[in-house]
Amino acid sequence: MHRSNATKRAVLSVLLERRGNLVSSGLLRTLAGVTRQAIWKSVESLREEGFPILSVPQKGYILKEAAFPDLAPSWIDFLLKDSPWGHPVLLWESLPSTQEVLKQMARNGTPAGALCLAEEQTLGRGRRGRVWSSPPRGGLYFSLLSRPRLLPSKIQLLNLAAGLSVSRSLQQLFGIPCQLKWPNDILWQGKKLCGILSETACEADRVHYAVTGIGINANIALSAFPRELSDQVTSLASILGREIDRGRVVAEIISDLHRRLALLENPSGEENLIAAYGRHCHTLRREVRVLTGERIYEGLAVALSAEGALCVETEEGLLSFSAADVVHLRPR
Ligand code: BTN
Repeated sequence: MHRSNATKRAVLSVLLERRGNLVSSGLLRTLAGVTRQAIWKSVESLREEGFPILSVPQKGYILKEAAFPDLAPSWIDFLLKDSPWGHPVLLWESLPSTQEVLKQMARNGTPAGALCLAEEQTLGRGRRGRVWSSPPRGGLYFSLLSRPRLLPSKIQLLNLAAGLSVSRSLQQLFGIPCQLKWPNDILWQGKKLCGILSETACEADRVHYAVTGIGINANIALSAFPRELSDQVTSLASILGREIDRGRVVAEIISDLHRRLALLENPSGEENLIAAYGRHCHTLRREVRVLTGERIYEGLAVALSAEGALCVETEEGLLSFSAADVVHLRPR
């Protein structure tokens, strides 16, 4: 497992700024504000993350121009700039599910903002106990720990905020116009690009912690998906025709989500979030089929409630669904 820390971030910033050039140990010590020993340890650890750093004896270090892993925790930490989240960033080569490690860390008292990523998940989970296919290398699988001041009944707002953050980030970085499908899918031309899953530990009136897991089909070839999914999913690489820097995507989403959740603390924060989601939500104002697990309903999706539930005008009247699977029946 690789882990970011403040010294590595400071050392990496200086090396990145002067990439390809020699940086003297003295300058590194001054700019990073740490001892020679700490610099050496950080450089070693950055190398373990995959940064091609050359030591020039008695002189200093050079970060070579060669590529480095786009999910390196120190790279994401660097990209997060001043965002208070992403401390620490933890990356595993392979693990069952980023949700599980982070929930364990949350129970052990880890503060909000911790971010866990994996190159591969062997037991990746989706909503309603479904499997989230998480093949090695190329996908984006990460979970964020928050401790939001929300009522447990309003926890759906976290999924809505995360959905807005993902879609805004993909638009910002790649100009891709995505569609938000209530409650937590991100689609591109009707095909699934990203799924979001928030899990919480609550008391009657308080959320102890929330772990929001985001899975994005990033640098995955469509042929790598299970055959039965092949006409329902898409990936960033297949949309753009090139591989993308996954670290940039994570950093953009985490910074945006931090800003959105901070806004929730304002008196009109919840209302504004629902309104923003409503403006971008492709489920609203269309005919839908709603599958609750017990029953199937059909009707016109007309609004979102203050809790983020979907309100549907059905033959039985106006019904509101706080969690369900939704099928979009006809294009608007
Ligand atoms: C869904 O659409 O059903 C939600 C999918 C959520 C997948 C992510 S990948 C990172 C995190 N770890 C998991 O096991 N699941 C979430």
